[in-house]
Amino acid sequence: MGRPLLSSIRHMSRSSHLRYRVVVFMMILALFQQYQLFCVHRQSLAAKYTSTQLASNFQGLHSHLPIPDDKDLHFQDELVANRRAWKALGEGWEGKVYAYNDSVIKTFTPGRSPFRNCVPGMMNKKWPTEIPASLQFGGFIQQNDPSNEHYGHNRSITIDGFLPVKAYYMASPLPSKPAEWHLVTPLLQGGSLNTLARTLSEDMKARGFQNVDALYRPTFNRLLETMEGLHDAGYCHDDIKPANIFIKDEAHWILGDLGNARQVFHPYHSSRLWRDNSQLEDCRANDVIRALKSYVKFIQTSLGDEDEFNLAFLEGKEPISRLFWRALADATTMTAAKLRQQSLTEYPEAPLKTDINDGVPLIPRSYTLMNLFSQRLALKHAVDNALLTRMGEKMTRWWAMTWLFGVPVSDVCGL
Ligand SMILES: Nc1ncnc2c1ncn2[C@@H]1O[C@H](COP(=O)(O)OP(=O)(O)O)[C@@H](O)[C@H]1O
Ligand SMILES: [Mg+2]
Repeated sequence: MGRPLLSSIRHMSRSSHLRYRVVVFMMILALFQQYQLFCVHRQSLAAKYTSTQLASNFQGLHSHLPIPDDKDLHFQDELVANRRAWKALGEGWEGKVYAYNDSVIKTFTPGRSPFRNCVPGMMNKKWPTEIPASLQFGGFIQQNDPSNEHYGHNRSITIDGFLPVKAYYMASPLPSKPAEWHLVTPLLQGGSLNTLARTLSEDMKARGFQNVDALYRPTFNRLLETMEGLHDAGYCHDDIKPANIFIKDEAHWILGDLGNARQVFHPYHSSRLWRDNSQLEDCRANDVIRALKSYVKFIQTSLGDEDEFNLAFLEGKEPISRLFWRALADATTMTAAKLRQQSLTEYPEAPLKTDINDGVPLIPRSYTLMNLFSQRLALKHAVDNALLTRMGEKMTRWWAMTWLFGVPVSDVCGL
């Protein structure tokens, strides 16, 4: 009687011991896995927030740093004194955007996204990459200087497809608040591609997508030329989307918001975060495909009724959809010049084609069985998915425990 009881107690304690060990083993495994994810995602963030290597001697930078000259100071004083009159244009994670007279003032709130670039000639001081990148590609317009070729009513408000800088400085929004970087550029009345699409959707309800495409395709081709220049200089924009394409006029669009510009071989482009966001390995091809997605999204949004467009886009017979699916099939090796060439071949008035061998039309299989309402939703869903340009880092920040350890920053600024 006693022996079986003893052996069953022994057996039970052995099996609970085993279970306990398995649980401990699983916990160690989970911790190890979590630690690995922690390291990979911290590496990703460190790569993303690594500085952009910009030219160190471009026009405007050294002559205005660290102390701006009198004319610039006068303009800055005017801006600071009239802060109450600034009109909010928008607010993002990194800061706010305001309009004042013919200027746009962008502020960068300290402590949000880390500033990536070192201020040349200053010890341990960083600034938003957008400032030196805009100086390098857009140049500097000196204010109130009649000798400046950009001064006067006929002055150009853009330079080679980029926004020039009118001023940059540090100032406190309120006496009790820390100083923030400010970047001032000329105001483009047309806003962004989103603004234009909204205006068109209200004005041109009766006009079809073919007309919008015919009107704006040459402008898009010109934008690709600007992009080609950026890529040839060795840089990618890295944040092409409708909100970052600004409208100078009907025939000229601008590559705005250079805050994410990076050299082609920047470590971010080989990080896990870049891959997790389904970006193309070659950041130049990635910029080009994102520009095409932005253009098609612009056409879709500019229509009062997008159903006809969504169907045509997924069928892949119209010039604009042929251009898109062909480029997507060839996405990894796409360049701005190649897309521009293809855009000239698939021009808006080109005849329809039914043999779309190199396209991948995406009409859902169950489409014919759906009722009208579900058909419209399914088409919209498929098109919106194909045109996504969103890039997120929420999960990366979560795994990298930035709430506890902050964002990893690798660059140290020397003189
Ligand atoms: N120079 C400008 N002229 C007109 N609108 C502008 C200008 N700069 C910015 N905007 C508007 O403000 C929005 C946000 O500006 P952006 O530079 O992209 O800042 P963020 O870093 O917040 O994305 C743009 O989408 C555009 O509508
Ligand atoms: Mg932006």
